[in-house]
Amino acid sequence: MSGKKLAADIKACVKSRVEKLSLMGIDVGLALMQIGGTASDEQYLNTTVSVSRTVGIKTYEYRLPETASLNEIINTINNINADERINGLLVLFPIPRRINPRRVVNAILPEKDVDGLGSTSVGMFAAEESMFQIFDKDDFGSGSDSGGLAVRNMACVPHGFLPCTPFGVIRLLEHYGVEIKGKNAVVIGKSLAVGKPLALMLLAKEATVTICHKSSADLAAHLRNADIVCAATGVSGLIKGNMIKEGAVIVDIGINIMPDGSFAGDVDFESVAPRASFITPVPGGVGPVTIATLLENTLRSAQNNVLLKTPLILP
Ligand SMILES: NC(=O)c1ccc[n+]([C@@H]2O[C@H](COP(=O)([O-])OP(=O)(O)OC[C@H]3O[C@@H](n4cnc5c(N)ncnc54)[C@H](OP(=O)(O)O)[C@@H]3O)[C@@H](O)[C@H]2O)c1
Repeated sequence: MSGKKLAADIKACVKSRVEKLSLMGIDVGLALMQIGGTASDEQYLNTTVSVSRTVGIKTYEYRLPETASLNEIINTINNINADERINGLLVLFPIPRRINPRRVVNAILPEKDVDGLGSTSVGMFAAEESMFQIFDKDDFGSGSDSGGLAVRNMACVPHGFLPCTPFGVIRLLEHYGVEIKGKNAVVIGKSLAVGKPLALMLLAKEATVTICHKSSADLAAHLRNADIVCAATGVSGLIKGNMIKEGAVIVDIGINIMPDGSFAGDVDFESVAPRASFITPVPGGVGPVTIATLLENTLRSAQNNVLLKTPLILP
């Protein structure tokens, strides 16, 4: 399951809608914030900047030093919150350990929280108030664009975006026609950014969901009965061919940098691929869809802004 075609379809739709907003004199802007960070964070930031440009979204980069205080970080976020040019903010994680990450994401205004990690977004999602996005029949990613502004969605749910990576996984599965309803799905990893929301999304799609983590006693026992396996651990080669059921669908979300500088997922592709009915590559699987979804959420934020703030002048 390559993510490249789906990502290209989503980006084409975003681009055409960004152009429509531009005709109304409105720019769409995305802020990216890096606090300290590694060479791979820098690479991710640069990739996101260049992909944003291809769809006409303007980017604003905030590179804070490793030594930045929480007060400085929050001040910067407050400025971004007030900046009319910026519709979404993505903070790159991990951040320095002495900074409480929840303080950081909770400082982002919900309407600009395009990766859906702040408490308001998480709460709305858990209460199924923003789950509409995974059932949305809007034409993002369908390869066509009717040009609509998804008025129905915006009118009923002004804020609350879904986290981009798990949402991207659901879209990828659906893009390849994988039936989720009634299947046994195992998610490995329970982070707030990936594992936990993905489990909730699979549940919303009516899978029977098991979440595994470091303390799961026998991972292989859970995987033996899994129709869909989603691995998000950051442990390369954790999932081996002999652990999965014949014909299982495998989604590898992990990104691990190997000693030779290459990228690998959490799944041992060589041994797993021959037994799987579908498997995502790393790189080129979930990653491109994550970035495309981030851009889509940023566009939605801009559209919300237009819809909610533009006075209706009747003839
Ligand atoms: N493709 C993309 O677009 C994308 C986006 C975001 C992240 N990622 C990648 O996805 C991976 C996970 O990201 P994250 O932010 O969720 O990481 P994280 O916050 O470090 O969480 C990792 C999760 O994996 C679990 N885990 C670790 N080792 C395990 C093991 N041996 N067996 C079972 N579970 C294990 C941990 O369990 P405990 O909770 O018990 O510690 C934790 O829940 C990383 O490689 C990251 O780079 C990819």
